[in-house]
Amino acid sequence: MAKKPEKKQEVETTGHEWDGIEELNNPLPRWWLWVFYACIVWAIWYSIAYPAWPMVSGATKGYMGWSTRENVAQEIAAAEEANSEINAQLVAADLSAIPGDEQLAGYARDAGEAVFNTWCVQCHGREGGGFVGYPTLSDDSWLWGGSMEEIHTTIAHGIRNDEDPDARWSEMPAFGADGLLSEEEVDQVINYVMSLSGEPKDAAVVEAGAEVFEINCAACHGENAEGMVAMGAPNLSDAIWLYGGGYDALYETIWNSRFGVMPPWTERLDEAEVRAVSAYVHQLGGGE
Ligand code: HEC
Ligand code: HEC
Repeated sequence: MAKKPEKKQEVETTGHEWDGIEELNNPLPRWWLWVFYACIVWAIWYSIAYPAWPMVSGATKGYMGWSTRENVAQEIAAAEEANSEINAQLVAADLSAIPGDEQLAGYARDAGEAVFNTWCVQCHGREGGGFVGYPTLSDDSWLWGGSMEEIHTTIAHGIRNDEDPDARWSEMPAFGADGLLSEEEVDQVINYVMSLSGEPKDAAVVEAGAEVFEINCAACHGENAEGMVAMGAPNLSDAIWLYGGGYDALYETIWNSRFGVMPPWTERLDEAEVRAVSAYVHQLGGGE
């Protein structure tokens, strides 16, 4: 049997014993004890100096007056102060001149990207990649126009919303649901639209569809189906689709129509931000 350690004799036991093993009442190491006391002193000082104790509403303030919220507010104010001059220049500049002004364009791109990533990515995707029903902003196919002025108007007032009386507005009729076209005519015009993007289709059906198109659709989508910015009517001949170019998607669009809505942004963003995000969208690849 192993010998019990000598030390046991010098140290008292706590009286706890289990199966021959006793718990010794060793004193805590000095260094540990002093660190422990130091922590207590530090904690008392901290709870007086800094916000620490929760109250019914808010918390104790602490004599140092520290507030992370205030620090952030100060930093934001400082950043705004630092940018105020260039923001003023941005607001005063001629919209169409912004992309050509190296300094303004560079600033607008960065500031606009921040705005875009906060307010626009949910619908338009990263870097304006787009989703079904939410247009790609990085190509040069525009529903409402791709000049700085047109992009700015679209963003400031939004599209088909009831909040802004200057919102972009147009409404494609629900040709099937409202009985404007028969099932056969809808089928014909779908075949015609698909043929425009190079889908091989029955020539006789396409020809009948072209006639339906000319009577019912050309007023908005243009004689050659190349779209009309004034109506926000998409180009139907470029194989770029907002809602999809398959038969079923086209059927849904033409039978029931769609109604893409974008909110206006002037209430949430200031003019410098609207201009910055306009310039950002403009330079994504498709700015006119
Ligand atoms: C709630 C979803 C939503 C959000 C958020 C949103 N948009 Fe849109 N946006 C749309 C829809 C839907 C359309 C297309 C409407 C249509 O069919 O004409 C659109 C169209 C546009 C167009 C017109 C594109 C063209 O081809 O003419 C621009 C430019 C645009 N958005 C920019 C922005 C910017 C910049 C933001 C952020 C400040 C933003 N959008 C936020 C839904 C949204
Ligand atoms: C009053 C104007 C108007 C008329 C008339 C009209 N359209 Fe449209 N069309 C639009 C608008 C505006 C959109 C954009 C849809 C939206 O977001 O609300 C659109 C969208 C479409 C789309 C979706 C395109 C895509 O990229 O996904 C198709 C397809 C289409 N129209 C076909 C037709 C056909 C076929 C007719 C005739 C039978 C027709 N349109 C008549 C205004 C019109």
